[in-house]
Amino acid sequence: MSALGTTTPAEATMTDGDARRALKADLARFNCRVHQPDDPPLFTREPTSDMQNVHWRWTDLEPLLERVGAAIAIGSGGQRRTLRLANPGLAFGTTHTFWGSIQYILPGEVAAAHRHTANAFRFILHGTGCSTTVDGECYEMNEGDLVLTPSMAWHDHVHRGSEPMIWLDVLDISLSRSLQATFFDPYDQGDMQPLDSVPERSYRAFGSGVMGSPRAPYRRGSNPLLAYPRQQAETALELACGLPADPCDDVILEYRNPVEGGPAMKTLGMKLQKIRAGFRGQPRRHTGSKLLCVLRGHGSTLVDGQRYDWAPGDFIAIKPWAWHAHLNASGEDALLFQVDDSPALQALGYYREELLSPHDGQAADEGMQ
Ligand SMILES: [Fe+2]
Repeated sequence: MSALGTTTPAEATMTDGDARRALKADLARFNCRVHQPDDPPLFTREPTSDMQNVHWRWTDLEPLLERVGAAIAIGSGGQRRTLRLANPGLAFGTTHTFWGSIQYILPGEVAAAHRHTANAFRFILHGTGCSTTVDGECYEMNEGDLVLTPSMAWHDHVHRGSEPMIWLDVLDISLSRSLQATFFDPYDQGDMQPLDSVPERSYRAFGSGVMGSPRAPYRRGSNPLLAYPRQQAETALELACGLPADPCDDVILEYRNPVEGGPAMKTLGMKLQKIRAGFRGQPRRHTGSKLLCVLRGHGSTLVDGQRYDWAPGDFIAIKPWAWHAHLNASGEDALLFQVDDSPALQALGYYREELLSPHDGQAADEGMQ
């Protein structure tokens, strides 16, 4: 055995901490190490996160969007004009797995075609007259519509309306970056891709959700449906109002893959939620992060003891394993859209959640008075 592999007499009498420090330099020469006393723990008893819970108010965002719209051009090479919801606890991202951004596109503008490995979607907040083309399928986009851009699907947007168009863009780019799996291709044959000969092909084949073309092609494990119109989603939510209320979320439905079930995207979960007047939710915490987007109504969400009173257009990011509970003390129902990373955590076996019992929840509840 070489001298490097032999315990020295001095090491044999050292404390464990000193022995670890003494080994550090020799081990480093061979790209090895042992846990050092001042290293952060490899395991924590429960999830920890640098991400912060954040509330963005529409009253702040709206003037910022107008300013960004006036100052920033839509660039060439597939660039976009987006106001990113930047988490102050992170160097990158709204959460540690995804970016949520507000895209602002002016009449007459074209957001040129590109594609990337990151899965993306857009949920329309304001405006009309803009269309998006995803792998040749062109969809008009109106308020409340959801359009998916799965990994490596070509996509471009054209605004033929007369007012600025605003939507929520979400990409799992933080996740794909941490997995070092990021590719990006600008479309090199013009700003816009050619259109499919059948308009809205995937919606015509699969969009009803309960019926489907038996011979329409789809790839097993992938969602063939690209568009989820507002009217269908809100009709489904109204039907769900007749079900027993969810103890935490009141009335909530997930956008799903109509062929194989499960979430509409592999990494991002999208949900539409009605929090009815007078609802007081049970506190819950779960692994993974989420972003709430308030569409209609007023209410409050208590997150780790901090109360956020929200209004239409507001966004709230909730970090992993944070206790949170919703309250609607207004006299009107509220409607929220939310995105989370639960499909990715569930696929990896990392999803866990806890609910406070109604009795235990009283302490958390006091913050909502
Ligand atoms: Fe994109």
